[in-house]
Amino acid sequence: EHVAQTRLGGAKLIVVANREPYIHRYRDGEIEWIRPAGGLTTALDPVMRACGGVWVAHGSGDADLEVSDSKGRVGVPPDDPSYTLRRVWLTKEEEEQYYYGFANSTLWPLCHQVYCRPTFEPAHWETYRQVNEKFAEAVLEEAQGGPALVFVQDYHFALLPSLLKQARPDLIVAQFWHIPWPSAEIFNVCPWAKQIVEGMLGNDLMSFHIQSHCNNFLETVDRTVECRIDREKFSVTRNEHETQVRPHAISVDPDLAAEYLGDDWERNAARIRRKYRLGDLPILVGVDRVDYTKGIPERLNAVDRLLDQHPEWKGKFHFLQIGAPSRTHLPAYRDLNESVHQLAEQINWKHGKDRWKPVILLNEHHGPKDVTLLYRMAAGCVVTSLHDGMNLVAKEYVSARSDEQGALILSNFTGASRELTDAILVNPFDVQEVATAFHEALSMPSEEQRRRMRRMRKTVSENNIYRWAGRLLSEVGKMVDDPLEMDSD
Ligand code: F6P
Repeated sequence: EHVAQTRLGGAKLIVVANREPYIHRYRDGEIEWIRPAGGLTTALDPVMRACGGVWVAHGSGDADLEVSDSKGRVGVPPDDPSYTLRRVWLTKEEEEQYYYGFANSTLWPLCHQVYCRPTFEPAHWETYRQVNEKFAEAVLEEAQGGPALVFVQDYHFALLPSLLKQARPDLIVAQFWHIPWPSAEIFNVCPWAKQIVEGMLGNDLMSFHIQSHCNNFLETVDRTVECRIDREKFSVTRNEHETQVRPHAISVDPDLAAEYLGDDWERNAARIRRKYRLGDLPILVGVDRVDYTKGIPERLNAVDRLLDQHPEWKGKFHFLQIGAPSRTHLPAYRDLNESVHQLAEQINWKHGKDRWKPVILLNEHHGPKDVTLLYRMAAGCVVTSLHDGMNLVAKEYVSARSDEQGALILSNFTGASRELTDAILVNPFDVQEVATAFHEALSMPSEEQRRRMRRMRKTVSENNIYRWAGRLLSEVGKMVDDPLEMDSD
């Protein structure tokens, strides 16, 4: 039985994202499901639970086919279905060239401007185009028979909006770009910049996390295609179709943390302390996919610097890094993984004494319950991205701290730093500044932690994921004849 399709003001909600929110896979001959690491699925799943509808995604688990109907559909969440997940099946070659290739070796480094040179392979581009067409077919099938609002996610689908609009001009199409948009100079080195921008102008609403990404996008459009730009209204008109460009900062469901922690979290915390031999020392925690945009070597170097400058911290804290393996087929990711391991080992060798090691590296995927537990246990959470659209780890950490304790060390180059100004803000390229921030976090008086955390919690609780979705969807609703209504509280 599939979940009833909820309609927003008469329109069916269809979300399209490369990543599926639930992955079914075989383990020891049994089918199990997991939640993937990364902000996008974590943020959108609660919205879909609340609204219902269909989520179209690449079926990436080896048991996905097993649990789907003939169209690739299954009700999710698996233990209490409230919306439909429709899988699109990609061949190995498509995955190689569209996901690892164009999305993650071209667009990802291009948009993050972090000194990893993007590749520009015609074959990757061609497959990216074909996969966008494949998704368009699936979405059009799901949208048959009535009005629909298609909410496209991220850089995997730059061409999808115009493909949808051409086939069904009546569809309402909005896109959210979860990563930064670079300056026009940077974006225009891409040989297919024009086609990408034209694809995105199929949207009625094109949204980014923050205003400066919107500004960069408008500038790129201005230099790339023939169109009319209204800088007051922040809109682009091309071939008589208007695209509004707006910032909407994504967020989290602040109530989920309490649910994940449960009543016996203290017992579980004691278990984790025993398991990783943490004693009762304070912990600084980092939770990331192992990705070169996250600044993981930079923060390890800062641990080294802290221990050089403040040897009194030796034996007095642990730095615990969860590094969820990510995109491991790509050499840049494999190399990073290797160098993070080596760096952690060097630091532990240099500063460790007796059984104490400063760095504990957990190089595996952890579910949201364990991650939330670590947030709750940690004296500080460390986010040192070199460039990041938003970074939801920062907001998850804050939402886990109903005790109003803990310090957040946050990179200036994340979207989150615009809202969470009570964090200890750092330039992750400045090792000294990060080391000083660690010292400050570990020594911060409880009253100051409370003062800062209270304000950050207020921000996250007010600007939560439901407000993000509500504002974005009702904004796109206002742009079309039949306004969509969605409660944004
Ligand atoms: O927006 C960033 C993103 O691409 C999201 O899809 C997700 O949050 C994260 O990176 C994970 O990446 P992937 O889906 O490639 O594992």
